Amino acid sequence: MSQSSYNQRLIVAMTGASGAAYGLRLIERLGQAGVEQHLLISDAARVVLKQEMDIVLPDAAQDVAGYLADRLEIAAVGLKSYALNDWFSPAASGSSGIHAMAIVPCSMGTMARIATGASDNLIERAADVMLKERGRLVLMPRETPLSSIHLEHMLKLSNLGVHIIPAMPGFYHRPQRIEELVDFMVDRVLVHLRLEPEGMQRWGV
Ligand SMILES: Cc1cc2nc3c(=O)[nH]c(=O)nc-3n(C[C@H](O)[C@H](O)[C@H](O)COP(=O)(O)O)c2cc1C
Repeated sequence: MSQSSYNQRLIVAMTGASGAAYGLRLIERLGQAGVEQHLLISDAARVVLKQEMDIVLPDAAQDVAGYLADRLEIAAVGLKSYALNDWFSPAASGSSGIHAMAIVPCSMGTMARIATGASDNLIERAADVMLKERGRLVLMPRETPLSSIHLEHMLKLSNLGVHIIPAMPGFYHRPQRIEELVDFMVDRVLVHLRLEPEGMQRWGV
């Protein structure tokens, strides 16, 4: 990632949609680039991490950052994690000066609560803050098929300026490994966070 990404501060949330690998890879790539990350992991995301990747996060939310730093081999400095009821954390307020957030993957439940302003935990509150402060909010929703309710929520959020990047990897780069599919999606998220992923395959270039 380009040097311009350094000093950037981001809120990164994982929720209980399938595709925990996308969220972990995003945290890894941001960590490698030295981006300050405020991590929020929903209870359902913990279940999915166990189911899909055999990863059991520490019970105490504040220990998750250290655990992931070790596991992903990224610097622990700049990586912080918070409980979902920590209303005194930076993510809870627009005055924190954090202007961007990614929710990867994003469940239909979390997306619905953001779309309706019914914020009930710190992930939803932080997204609510992004919307009211006109910050950058990137969601990677994942479900199939999509109901009209899901589609309505996506349209509503897109019309509010939210970047909707569904977990729909392309195959035109002829991926051979799951990691390539994951990186395809994570690259798209990084671009929409205004970061420049190194080595990203660009169409026509
Ligand atoms: C293994 C597993 C996979 C799931 N996959 C999805 C999914 O792809 N999309 C989705 O919206 N919900 C999915 N769910 C259901 C959500 O986890 C559930 O609706 C949960 O309440 C979401 O909570 P959260 O938004 O607070 O993370 C999955 C659950 C499990 C256990």
